[in-house]
Amino acid sequence: MAWHRGVVIKTARDLQAMRSAGLVNAQALAAAVSAVRPGVTTADVNAAAVEVLRQHGAGMAFLGYPGPYPYPAATCISVNDELVHGIPGPRRLQAGDIVSIDCGSVVDGFVGDSAITVGVGEIAEEAQRLLEVTCAALFAGIERMRVGNRTGDVSAAIQSVVERAGFNVVREYTGHGVGRAMHEDPQVPNYGKAGTGQPLKPGMTVALEPMVLAGGPETRILRDQWTVASRDGRRTAHFEHTVAVTADGPRILTTLEQDLDGLPAAAYNDYFVGRSSAAVREVEAKRT
Ligand code: MF3
Ligand code: CO
Repeated sequence: MAWHRGVVIKTARDLQAMRSAGLVNAQALAAAVSAVRPGVTTADVNAAAVEVLRQHGAGMAFLGYPGPYPYPAATCISVNDELVHGIPGPRRLQAGDIVSIDCGSVVDGFVGDSAITVGVGEIAEEAQRLLEVTCAALFAGIERMRVGNRTGDVSAAIQSVVERAGFNVVREYTGHGVGRAMHEDPQVPNYGKAGTGQPLKPGMTVALEPMVLAGGPETRILRDQWTVASRDGRRTAHFEHTVAVTADGPRILTTLEQDLDGLPAAAYNDYFVGRSSAAVREVEAKRT
């Protein structure tokens, strides 16, 4: 295994396996997104993702993950003020909610980790702006995932998009290296200073995950001991992709390739880049 200053460098073969994991993860997330509509429970949304992981014989990177107690599900589903690590359960989604779905899969020994936040039915304009800004921050970070840059360049880009929009990034949780383990070095916070941090080298793989709060940056842990929510009760959003640094620039490993039942790949991928294609509008219409 090759290392650079404590960071595992992936070979071309490793990256192929990571793409396989990333693709399955995208399919699981897309199926979960398709299940989102008013009246379904967060457990139903989780089940849609689990079904896809099962079909592909993929492992569940989150299930059993160490914490206050082993994480009890394959996905984290966090609604409105819940930022991350919401546990799927009997809560029913309502029109106007925004719901973050985070999934981790294991294929050929490598982890794919990605998350998306979507609206349930019609959502308020400010909620829509929160989703768009958080996704734009993710892509500003991805754009900086280039040889010659440092992790601080990525962090600073994410922070700047978020704060220019008047929102805040979380301080206590960060993006992270990902590979055979879900959490590897380096940590990539959603705030930082350009020109600082780890130099980016080809073969590094990082899960970038802006976690954004419409109000203040402070968080609290709910009684289930896992769910992280905004302290002020205002809404939050979370987008995540697993990204490889290559000689040719950033490569997103968690995009969708083929259409799924009811969800064209273009709709999923376009949603991630904030493009409201006809396909996206069609999917959104189905959710209302
Ligand atoms: N995407 C999250 C992370 O990278 C998911 C971890 S949830 C857990 O930290 F349940 F596995 F802890
Ligand atoms: Co992650």
